[in-house]
Amino acid sequence: MSTLTIFSSTPAAGTTAPPAATGRTIPAVLGADLEVPVKGGRLVGYANLDYAASAPCLEPVSAAVAAALPAYSSVHRGAGYASQLTTARYEQARHTVRAFVGARPDDAVIFTRNTTDATNLLAGCLPAGTTTVVFDTEHHASLLPWQRSVRLAPPAFPGEAVRAADEALAGIDGPKLLVVTAASNVTGELWPIAALAHIAHRHGARILVDAAQLVPHRRLNLTALDLDYVAFSGHKLYAPFGAGVLVGRRDWLADGEPYLKGGGAVRSVGESAEWHDDPEPRHEAGTPNVLGAIALAAACDALTATGWTALVREEERLIARLRSGLASIDGVRELSLWGDDHPRVGIVSFTADGYSAREVAEVLSSEYGIGVRDGKFCAHPFVRHLLGTADGGCEDDTASAVRASIGIGSTQEHVDRLIEAVRDLVTR
Ligand SMILES: Cc1ncc(COP(=O)(O)O)c(C=O)c1O
Repeated sequence: MSTLTIFSSTPAAGTTAPPAATGRTIPAVLGADLEVPVKGGRLVGYANLDYAASAPCLEPVSAAVAAALPAYSSVHRGAGYASQLTTARYEQARHTVRAFVGARPDDAVIFTRNTTDATNLLAGCLPAGTTTVVFDTEHHASLLPWQRSVRLAPPAFPGEAVRAADEALAGIDGPKLLVVTAASNVTGELWPIAALAHIAHRHGARILVDAAQLVPHRRLNLTALDLDYVAFSGHKLYAPFGAGVLVGRRDWLADGEPYLKGGGAVRSVGESAEWHDDPEPRHEAGTPNVLGAIALAAACDALTATGWTALVREEERLIARLRSGLASIDGVRELSLWGDDHPRVGIVSFTADGYSAREVAEVLSSEYGIGVRDGKFCAHPFVRHLLGTADGGCEDDTASAVRASIGIGSTQEHVDRLIEAVRDLVTR
């Protein structure tokens, strides 16, 4: 599969980024020159290493939103010129997203609030009696929405994931859906989604891929991979304007209960309502998040225009540096399901002996101006499995890890600052 790209040196906001290896220009992110206070009152450049939670806004995304704002108006039902223009921009955003994920021409593209909203939308549209098969490694957004599910233990290697899915799907009668995350939000590891799609289809099942952590880092082609549904969030894709998307086969979505009931979803209302059959209006009742959709599409355009090869190359350089730097520190352990050599996106979770994850994250922020995430990353069963710990909720920071994640705008200085800060901390 091909890929996404990142910067090695961060231009200040408003300046031109260096050309990518493809010869095309890599866009800048807003906030690249952000300064934050550290202990003693000094200001330092912010090292944002928390992209897996929410990525900063790309400049072309901000520009697209700014360009759309003066003509901003209602969509779909207004006769005025501004309304028609805004409607055209909204519908163009749908086409852009469709092309970005390589969807089939007849796939539905439904704008949602985020990935969680998208998985819940699909959950409400499953045919009666559908059984979902889901691994314990999933983010809660993909683990929890299903009424009837079979949960599979974290597989010891990728082939075991395929074997376990095969066995589970073979034992299920009636409609079935396999749900799997393309890239783990805990370890960054890539899952064998093509092989899992193949197995699902062999058993007459469908597959939903949670692509929240994949699409900011790698190219996804739904048609080539033969996926039935994909879901992702704009705010992890450099478009933090509150939109996400569900893309996939129309039939279940056309038959499912409208996600929201109200204007736009309905064709006519008398004693009862006659709902649209088309999934897009059926599930997008009320005034949609037009600017969010425009932002999401602008991010898709910007990444595509930049080209994935250079982005992936730079991301892999930085993440390799980060991982080997952390591995060189005594008492620091990276979390991994499938081992050091398994391919992954720009996400590394780790623990440091003698310190809770919260302590590490707080010191990184307050003393070094570094932003990371600590906790169980909304993947409690998986993190407990990786840490070998028993039950413990969000507040149990003895069973937590620190996560550093990178993307466009990440620099070698950010990575090196994190490594040295962790080294300093554990040798105090
Ligand atoms: C793999 C994965 N799936 C789903 C989600 C949920 O995304 P959102 O909070 O945008 O709904 C996340 C967020 O961290 C994630 O990493």
